[in-house]
Amino acid sequence: MITAEQLKGALRTALEAAGRGRRGANPLVGACILDAEARVIATGFHLGAGHPHAEIDALRRLGLLSRQAAAGLTMVVTLEPCNHQGRTGPCSQAIAEAGIGHVHYAVRDETAASGGADYLRSAGVTVSHAADAASWELNHRWFKAQAENRPFITVKTAQSLDGRINAPDGTSQWITCDASRIHAHSLRAQVDAIVVGTGTVLADDPRLTARTAAGGLHEHQPYRIVAGHRQLPEQLALAYDGNWEQLRTHDVFEVVARARDLGFGHLLIEGGATLASAFIEADLADELYCYQAPVIIGGGTASVNLPSVTTLSQARNFRLDAAQNDAVKRLGVDVLLHLEPLPVPVANGSHPKE
Ligand SMILES: NC(=O)c1ccc[n+]([C@@H]2O[C@H](COP(=O)([O-])OP(=O)(O)OC[C@H]3O[C@@H](n4cnc5c(N)ncnc54)[C@H](OP(=O)(O)O)[C@@H]3O)[C@@H](O)[C@H]2O)c1
Repeated sequence: MITAEQLKGALRTALEAAGRGRRGANPLVGACILDAEARVIATGFHLGAGHPHAEIDALRRLGLLSRQAAAGLTMVVTLEPCNHQGRTGPCSQAIAEAGIGHVHYAVRDETAASGGADYLRSAGVTVSHAADAASWELNHRWFKAQAENRPFITVKTAQSLDGRINAPDGTSQWITCDASRIHAHSLRAQVDAIVVGTGTVLADDPRLTARTAAGGLHEHQPYRIVAGHRQLPEQLALAYDGNWEQLRTHDVFEVVARARDLGFGHLLIEGGATLASAFIEADLADELYCYQAPVIIGGGTASVNLPSVTTLSQARNFRLDAAQNDAVKRLGVDVLLHLEPLPVPVANGSHPKE
């Protein structure tokens, strides 16, 4: 019989594995499989949307076992196994089919994918659950985005040491180095859509494609949304394939609702300063990628400007992404900070709905 302490230890292993994934339309999830002596014999994690879920990854790493052998195994997972047919099949069904005897999970799934625990029980699997603050914190912003029925939102800034995105005369190419730009392009390749303000389009006429380090195009190219009222020129670099639109609004919630209606699960706010600030001001930045170049410009536009903050106690607090080991990364001469808003404390340190 596996003890509560052993389950807790296994959950730490699952949490560590979860951190190897990428944030976005799907939550970070980690899983591990224990034998009857509570030894970890397989771990799995979810890399991101379109990739196998953590439970399936762990089952694959475990390899083929007879149902009889699997009956003595316990799967420990940071989030309740899903029960819906998305891009991948329901995990609860795969676990039951593999013959796993016991499933222990930390955070109850409150989304459309819920019901996995009930399915497992109905299939004869023993299911246990113990709320765990770290497992909830792992995806606190993803849960918030789900509760608000909107995509997960990444905000990107590229700035000088003094927090500027351009010089006083408006020149801004290139503050950050090649390695940063290559990284920013890999970010573009992971999102469903990029949002920019009319200011950026009129100043830079960017293509907003996702390019590989070799300069080729990534297989997936994000949709482009331009927010703002001003009339744009007929010929726009970002209009190259027709997959773009302009939203004549300053209401960031309207932008987000439109993106949701288009079926998008992950948005990247690329700037400029006005648009990025509006998203941060509205508490719609679920994560922040801050590319920091070792240059002092001494003037120009601040990367973020929040009119609502007039004194230090109103400042917005972020922390390095707690789940990911490379939340501080050297990129050539630059440093990339991967940040998230501080979790809002909840009564019992677990999912607010539990
Ligand atoms: N370093 C970087 O990471 C980076 C990234 C992007 C851009 N940039 C630089 O940023 C500069 C442009 O800055 P920017 O602040 O003008 O660009 P912006 O944020 O792209 O555009 C601002 C404009 O967007 C419209 N808009 C959309 N939503 C809005 C909202 N919620 N609140 C207010 N206005 C909204 C307004 O124009 P309307 O009058 O049309 O409504 C506003 O003037 C350029 O020099 C560009 O090179 C730097």
